[in-house]
Amino acid sequence: MEAESQSVLNPEISSPSNATFPIEAVRAAFPALTRPPGFMFFDNAAGAQVPQTVLDAVNHHLLECNVQRGGRYAKSREVDEMIVRARHSVADLVNARDASEIAFGMNATSFIRLVSLAIGETLDKRNEIVVTDMDHEANVATWLALERNGAKFSWWKMRDDGNLHADDLIPLVSSKTRLVACTLASNAIGSIVDVAAAAKVAHASGAEIFLDSVHYGPHGVIDVQAFDCDYLVCSGYKIFGPHMGFLWGRRELLEKLPTFREDFIPNEPPGKIEAGTFVYENVAGMDAALRYLETLGRSMAGNDATAKSESRRYALRRAFEAIRIYEESLSLEMLRVLNDCCAVVYGVAEKERISQRVPTLCFNLPNVHPARVTEELAKQNIGVRDGHMYSPRLMKRLGLPIKSGAVRASLVHYNTVQEVRRFGRVLAEMKESC
Ligand SMILES: Cc1ncc(COP(=O)(O)O)c(C=O)c1O
Repeated sequence: MEAESQSVLNPEISSPSNATFPIEAVRAAFPALTRPPGFMFFDNAAGAQVPQTVLDAVNHHLLECNVQRGGRYAKSREVDEMIVRARHSVADLVNARDASEIAFGMNATSFIRLVSLAIGETLDKRNEIVVTDMDHEANVATWLALERNGAKFSWWKMRDDGNLHADDLIPLVSSKTRLVACTLASNAIGSIVDVAAAAKVAHASGAEIFLDSVHYGPHGVIDVQAFDCDYLVCSGYKIFGPHMGFLWGRRELLEKLPTFREDFIPNEPPGKIEAGTFVYENVAGMDAALRYLETLGRSMAGNDATAKSESRRYALRRAFEAIRIYEESLSLEMLRVLNDCCAVVYGVAEKERISQRVPTLCFNLPNVHPARVTEELAKQNIGVRDGHMYSPRLMKRLGLPIKSGAVRASLVHYNTVQEVRRFGRVLAEMKESC
């Protein structure tokens, strides 16, 4: 796959305006959204719903070819072909140089640990690792576990404006730094990090950068070439697929990575990163989720000839560009209703900075316990979450008790402004006077 010249966070790809986002068609593709009695899915950061086509792909696998790969019979060959197809789809999603850079597995956390174990074995004089106080704990604790291997740690801290700044990384990185681990977007407060700038800083000192794209995955264009990162991890169940995870790594780094494998498994990616059997039906579902996104992108191309001729990567980019614009309108409406309820919003809350966040809003209502807010919303069939959002260090940083934390409403492209307004009305009944 070719490197793309445009900046990922500010691409020149022409996107339809928010008014043309096909929200009705999008919602119709997801059976769970229309099942009675009607439920508002505002907890997507913990896992998103899946289109019918994903269910069909999982069913097809289980009914028609639920066998081990690598056999000489047709059903087994079909599994081999599906895995190849899925690897290419994910490679297109992240703009990998080669499909062999994609590994499939259980989830993001186990992949981060797999890489951290390998890096722990190869620490030498470069034994310093930079972690952040904004990340999901999966991308922090997995690295801190390397203390027993002699690793030393520096903390890249979020600024009071609710984001990480690459300038603050500069003094933390030196010729002793082995790796910087950071997220593309905060799963707790929704801030989008300028990871390309962070990669520049890391590489200037010869360090590597490991990106957690789990939260960013459903919201924007992933481009490992434009980010110039070294590793990137994501979970399928956040981007409209089933429960599974995948890892991308630079081929030359994956080749060197010490991993566990049986002697008969070649020491080559992706096989050396995929010990044992992964869940094939979920990989089939992930492939279908990406086809759903590709189809969404093609449907927005404007004219049929363009839609047919553009590459899948381009169609995926088009889909995510449209999603990004549509989701900005959801973020703005969320900020408006939260402001009307006198909520304290953690993270980016200024209209002018709306492009620096995804529609994941973390907040508290004055004098109302977060658990009470989520319980009241649950009574109205609205699913949100309260607590520390697996980012306990961020909660501490925000001055929130880890046990109670905050309320998080996390939206994706199948949510609507009407849902946000209904959410606002339920909150308004709960708030005390401002
Ligand atoms: C930003 C982020 N990183 C990592 C994880 C862990 O992902 P997984 O459940 O696939 O291990 C999550 C899960 O919510 C997340 O939001």
